[in-house]
Amino acid sequence: MNVDLTEEQRQVRDLCRKFADEELKPHARKWDQEHRFPAEAVRKLAEMGLLAVAVPAEWGGAGMDNMCYALAMEEISRGCASTGVTMSVNNSLYCDPVMKFGTPEQKRKWLKPFTAGEKLGAFALTEPMSGSDAAEMRTVAVKQGDAYVLNGAKNFITNGPQADAILVFAMTDRPKGHKGISAFLVPTDAKGFSRGKPDEKVGIRASGTCSVFFEDLVVPAADRLGGEGDGFKVAMATLDGGRIGIAAQALGIARAALEEARAYAKDRKAFGQPIANFQAIQFMLADMATEVDAARLLIWRAAAMKDKGVRFSAEAAMAKLYASEMAERVTSRAIQIHGGYGYTTEYDAERHWRDSRITEIYEGTSEIQRVVIAANILKD
Ligand code: CAA
Repeated sequence: MNVDLTEEQRQVRDLCRKFADEELKPHARKWDQEHRFPAEAVRKLAEMGLLAVAVPAEWGGAGMDNMCYALAMEEISRGCASTGVTMSVNNSLYCDPVMKFGTPEQKRKWLKPFTAGEKLGAFALTEPMSGSDAAEMRTVAVKQGDAYVLNGAKNFITNGPQADAILVFAMTDRPKGHKGISAFLVPTDAKGFSRGKPDEKVGIRASGTCSVFFEDLVVPAADRLGGEGDGFKVAMATLDGGRIGIAAQALGIARAALEEARAYAKDRKAFGQPIANFQAIQFMLADMATEVDAARLLIWRAAAMKDKGVRFSAEAAMAKLYASEMAERVTSRAIQIHGGYGYTTEYDAERHWRDSRITEIYEGTSEIQRVVIAANILKD
């Protein structure tokens, strides 16, 4: 793996860093406090090509590699973790599977408007009674002629309140277990579609999350993504890529916390000198910086493998596992360095800590990442 970035990768990183400093960081605290979806920032991300970073230009994407995507996710999430996850879901969980599994006609209908930023996508796998055990879903799609009739409920859907279309997973043949699951592209203006009220969350409070419901919703067979029964593999392959995005989101959150803790430590005085002069603080900063860099290397390895076209499931799981747990440790230490101020909303340290927590849960909990890694270690 080459750790020297290409000219294009450096440019994307620098562009996103500038955007985050100027357009996200100054507003992120207010958006969080007001639970306000950053619609204007998301529109600008679309103009910058950041809603479909690794989709080829012929389909309206930025045509860049997955390293660029990881770099962009780190920088954007450093500015605002809510904006980061909104971007991640449209890139990894919506555009990526449509690009990978869609027919040319499906890409024209379901990809182009979503790469252009005219529309926003979401991904609906989780249900009230099936999270980690994704194959246990209750949502059904019953074939009737040239269409399917969808009934069921999905919850914790990131971008759910704003999405124009959702990639929905449903049982088409329950006795076959995971081989009886199929994937469907569902427009949110379809008859029979409804949403719950936005979820009240601990962190990433500016990103939209809600439950969605399907009641006798008719989906044309032409809008099934992949073959009948291929849905579980579509979901798993999609989540491999998504886990790189969430790992990079966690990394960005941790870096924001580290940078702010460093600045605070150099400024704040105790016992007649900046607290950065004390070894207790220096060792915390040293550990935080080391862990941030270690996470980045795992993320870059997984992204480089995705770019090479080799299986990267275990490497993406390692990157997400380590980066998310690292982010919780680093953001917690950042609060410690800020002392009492770190526990107030006057500083961003508490928000970073709250934002980090979900990265250990969504797109597969830390426990599921360990399951994936262990299966890879033990195979054959
Ligand atoms: N790529 C392609 N195929 C895969 C795959 C992958 N990464 N992982 C598994 N498969 C295939 C297997 O090869 C197997 O195929 P065959 O039957 O043909 O051999 C099939 O899928 C079943 O595999 P397993 O037996 O390993 O499946 P399992 O039922 O034991 O579960 C699991 C595997 C890893 C636990 C999986 O259920 C899982 O990842 N669960 C977590 C779900 C998750 O991440 N949910 C997040 C929700 S989305 C979200 O959070 C989005 C958001 O809003 C931000």
